[in-house]
Amino acid sequence: MKKVVLSGVAPTGTLTIGNYLGALKNWKEMQKDYDCLFMIVDMHAITVRQDPSSLYNRCISFATQYLACGIDPQESTIFIQSSVSAHSELAWILSCFTHLGELNRMTQFKSKAKRYSSNINAGLYTYPVLMAADILLYQTDIVPIGEDQKQHLELTRDIAQRFNNLYGEVFKLPEPYISQMGARIMSLLDPTRKMDKSDSNPNNYIALLDEPDVVRKKIRHAVTDSGSEIRVDERKPGISNLLTIYSCLSEQPVSKLEERFAEKGYASFKEELAELIIQTLKPIQKEYRRLMDNRDYVIDLLQEGAKKARTRAERTLREVKKRIGFLYLTQDQQ
Ligand code: TYM
Repeated sequence: MKKVVLSGVAPTGTLTIGNYLGALKNWKEMQKDYDCLFMIVDMHAITVRQDPSSLYNRCISFATQYLACGIDPQESTIFIQSSVSAHSELAWILSCFTHLGELNRMTQFKSKAKRYSSNINAGLYTYPVLMAADILLYQTDIVPIGEDQKQHLELTRDIAQRFNNLYGEVFKLPEPYISQMGARIMSLLDPTRKMDKSDSNPNNYIALLDEPDVVRKKIRHAVTDSGSEIRVDERKPGISNLLTIYSCLSEQPVSKLEERFAEKGYASFKEELAELIIQTLKPIQKEYRRLMDNRDYVIDLLQEGAKKARTRAERTLREVKKRIGFLYLTQDQQ
């Protein structure tokens, strides 16, 4: 039996090379060896106001980008979170096993509450409980994520452990998989904070669908640091970030790149980096366009994915309800 891998992206903003390097690239590499489920977590997206038609289209676009990045629907299950109602059911149950103190500690909640101060809704606060439900429903072994989601995974484990202590071994305890490189790609104009797909200034990120000229311009304008040395150094966050991106995309160690660019200036390093990004994105964009001309195919895949996911999720949910003492009747018994 293959181990279960599960992950997801919230359909907000636009997918960036941060999402690619922190998540999607790893997903693609894991799907041969693991039983993989990849979601588009639209229920998480509505913790911030969304325009309905944009949300609808973005879910299709993100699913298509998953496919274009190499997620193979024959190997992996791809689905939209809201099409599996067990997620919200389990989230409610788990919220009764989550302490306010735990949610108060979530750094993502604190930063989102600042950013969306006119709409600090309960969903924004309980978001990590829904994420725990996403993961625990599928008896997940491994969750490939970027560094920013680590705290949510730790909470997921704590909730699962608490439930198991009370009711017996119902949930598997998931492990995070955070790659050493690429787990925290930083913003291009402010490399002290992470690259964010919902950033109001698109010059802070490279989107997977950015045209070559846009990539060149954004990389040219990316903040570098004083001095001219091309090396990773915590006092040089700008150039360190660009080197990290280069290293992840080329799969060459940073030390080798530092040697290679030792005699070169920032400008020629940036030019080469831009070309590397463009070459990486080219086949993804080509496949994306081809698939977007076949939207019905993508929608069918999502429907099939939801069906598979529903069956699996229902198994865990039924067990949870039984253990709690809910009078659970299957369809046949009703
Ligand atoms: P989200 O949508 O913010 O991000 C999706 C994935 O991309 C990673 N990521 C990054 N990695 C490296 N550098 C960056 N700058 C960067 N920005 C984002 C994130 O770590 C994430 O892996 N709560 C989650 C979605 C979610 C989920 C789940 C994930 C909901 N349920 C269950 C795993 C399992 C989120 O908002 O990710």
